[in-house]
Amino acid sequence: MLAADRVEGYERDMTPQPITIPLPTEDDTAALAQKLAQMARVGDALCLEGTLGMGKSLLARHFIRSLTSQTEPVPSPTFALLQTYQGRTGPLSHFDLYRLEHEDELLEIGFYEALEGSICLIEWPDKAGRDRPQNGLAVRLEEEGAGRRATLVPGLDWQDRRDALIELVGPTP
Ligand SMILES: Nc1ncnc2c1ncn2[C@@H]1O[C@H](COP(=O)(O)OP(=O)(O)O)[C@@H](O)[C@H]1O
Ligand SMILES: [Mg+2]
Repeated sequence: MLAADRVEGYERDMTPQPITIPLPTEDDTAALAQKLAQMARVGDALCLEGTLGMGKSLLARHFIRSLTSQTEPVPSPTFALLQTYQGRTGPLSHFDLYRLEHEDELLEIGFYEALEGSICLIEWPDKAGRDRPQNGLAVRLEEEGAGRRATLVPGLDWQDRRDALIELVGPTP
């Protein structure tokens, strides 16, 4: 048996098992952001997925504020593509790749450097094409009633934190 076959949380074909978290209100999205911020470390990528208005930027704002200060202005990186911060646990890079025109631009905007030396929050990660981080944490946000639902898909870098991620689901009613 390959060592990789024994990585917990993975099926034998290495498909990570998703974790679903209900987010009935904006405060729940904020709370999830704060908990993820406590768990994240330099070298991590969080890929924030979901259509317009699902709360990717809201989650990023709370994540960044919980590692900087509650009054930190967190402008949308829609046009700049990247905003950086100095967080308590290391540098933070907030990307919004919606307006990325070509994957070649990733080098110019410091994408690869950021993946190595900071905690990265990436909105519209699929715009990075083949260079979308594979081992990070995917956070998919979708509509659920009047609120949202998050589906977390932990890549290899997050397997050691899988139990902590499962605890985010909270007690089952
Ligand atoms: N869990 C939630 N329940 C209800 N509304 C939410 C929730 N999370 C976010 N929202 C709302 O959805 C919108 C999200 O906007 P934004 O963060 O800019 O989305 P995105 O970056 O995905 O386009 C905000 O108006 C916010 O109030
Ligand atoms: Mg956004």
